[in-house]
Amino acid sequence: MKIFTDHRWTIGAGVILALLIASIGIITNSHYAGFDIDTLVRFAHILTGITWIGLLYYFNFVQVPSLGGVTAETKADIFKEGSIVRRALWWFRWGAMFTLIFGLVLYGNLTGADGWDIRIGAAFGIIMWFNVWFIIWPNQKKVIGITEATADEKAAAGKKALMASRLNTLLSIPMLLLMVSSAHFRFFG
Ligand code: HEM
Repeated sequence: MKIFTDHRWTIGAGVILALLIASIGIITNSHYAGFDIDTLVRFAHILTGITWIGLLYYFNFVQVPSLGGVTAETKADIFKEGSIVRRALWWFRWGAMFTLIFGLVLYGNLTGADGWDIRIGAAFGIIMWFNVWFIIWPNQKKVIGITEATADEKAAAGKKALMASRLNTLLSIPMLLLMVSSAHFRFFG
């Protein structure tokens, strides 16, 4: 069955099951408060957010510690077109992009009563998005050989990308706390 062999079908099946559950809930629940575009955007924001941050944790907790002693030849193989690393980086940076887009739409729809939790949380998220697209990705392109670079330049680029990635890992924890606190229990009014 394609849903177990092709990840695009797996995603499609998940979306259909989610819509089915939502439809059953809406039809059978007389107290239902309303399903609007904002709800869909919020859901899409969380899905893309976990895609992004899940891969961030994969890079920091799994990939980077495993590549320490690997030779240049092995690295060339690991980083080539179609490799795990390139695919992971693709989902990572586009996950960040769509999380930001959906997040900004949500932010635009907030009413004046919303507090500092979401302002600080969104600011952390935007810094993290900036790091992905303007520090991590350009430097990773040198490391994995998309952009021409000498061995020294690659090493320097790797260090910069790693620092930004570690900063994002650190910020992701308070960022997520503030995303959730903004909607459920405000720390800052
Ligand atoms: C990139 C910049 C980001 C911006 C501008 C942003 C913005 C927002 C906004 C405006 C909300 C709605 C808050 C409310 O209704 O009071 C929200 C909710 C949320 N965000 Fe983000 N966000 C960003 C990144 C992230 C990331 C990386 C994650 C990680 C998974 C995330 C997770 C969440 C969650 C879980 C909620 C729902 C909270 C709830 O309703 O319980 N956000 N975000």
